[in-house]
Amino acid sequence: MNADVFLIGGGLTSFGEHWNKNIRTLMDEAMSSAINAASITALDIDVIVVANMLGNLINNQSHLGALASSLLPHKPPALRVEAACASGSMAIHTACALLESGKAKTALVIGVEKMTDSDADTISHALMGAADEEHDQSCALTFPGIFGLIAQRYMYEYGLTRDELSLVSATHHRNALDNPFAQFHTEISTDDVSDSAPVADPLRLLDCSPISDGAAACILSVSETLSQSKGSCIRIAASQIANDTLSITERPVLTSFSATKDAMERALTEAAISREEIQCIELHDCFSIAALLNLEDMGFADPGKGISFYQQSSLPINKSGGLKACGHPVSATGIKQIIDTAKYLKTENRQWGLAQNFGGVGATCGIHILERTV
Ligand code: COA
Repeated sequence: MNADVFLIGGGLTSFGEHWNKNIRTLMDEAMSSAINAASITALDIDVIVVANMLGNLINNQSHLGALASSLLPHKPPALRVEAACASGSMAIHTACALLESGKAKTALVIGVEKMTDSDADTISHALMGAADEEHDQSCALTFPGIFGLIAQRYMYEYGLTRDELSLVSATHHRNALDNPFAQFHTEISTDDVSDSAPVADPLRLLDCSPISDGAAACILSVSETLSQSKGSCIRIAASQIANDTLSITERPVLTSFSATKDAMERALTEAAISREEIQCIELHDCFSIAALLNLEDMGFADPGKGISFYQQSSLPINKSGGLKACGHPVSATGIKQIIDTAKYLKTENRQWGLAQNFGGVGATCGIHILERTV
């Protein structure tokens, strides 16, 4: 980063089904909560970056920059960014660039998605917009289907068993028990996961992140006055985005995502730390198998050894419950991850945390490294 960007406050709606709230009310709730948490006034906000993927596809609502701006009294300039499930990290990255450029001193970043009003076919079709229309969608693939194929290939290559994979979701569900914002507060055993309803072989219902409504907002600032008025400071030490081919048919392997590898290398270089210094991770577990790929692609585990990391390492992974148990309103996820990472650094008195968020089948990956400086 060319200027120190600080995360000075974050606000969330709970994730889950909000039958009585629309995009506007979800945004309003998260934005107000973030402004309060940052102890600023709305007038301190110079720019708004909105993350949203599905608004114009399933909610008949685009132009979300203007909608967000209209919720603040001075109607600051606002834009929307979209990078499928990585929209949240892309919005943070965009806001950091605006702050570093000097165009703004304080930015509000808000991710929102309202998914549960649509039937399963509609939502599945809309989500597949994140995959290649010509090569992937035309094969009638869905996201559970694609990650089912990846899991099959991974099991073939590395000998992972169905019951071993179940540890991922069981761990994340346990982590969500204490998270008031989580969609699920249900402890599940590995047997519960293995025995849950088949979705896309070998993936079961409890391997999948759910369909969710929700919003997450954070305030980023380069203003020394605003960022240092708070007791403890969280610095965005690295903000990196990397990309890969949109279609999985153009990849040499299915069991590793090069965008995650590239974003991770660049993020460690930008933060000038080693992987071993990271003290907590929020990673993108849209499906249980993705958590293993992510750990391996980020270099925390050797290829095929992701599950050993879950079995043996004490490094906290998805203490919020992750996408699996906290929920996955797709564009809110990347922002929620950095709010939860910051919360963990503060409450556990740790220095370095990492949030990893991908879109599509890993075609976009955003990695943020956070540092607690005080
Ligand atoms: N985890 C745990 N429970 C879940 C769940 C999940 N992922 N999805 C649904 N449930 C529960 C519901 O709460 C409901 O419980 P209830 O009967 O006690 O109320 C029950 O299972 C049935 O829910 P329903 O909505 O009918 O499930 P579904 O079969 O329509 O959808 C999935 C299940 C897994 C297909 C759907 O959640 C899905 O598509 N997830 C993946 C989303 C996705 O691809 N996101 C993008 C990732 S890149």
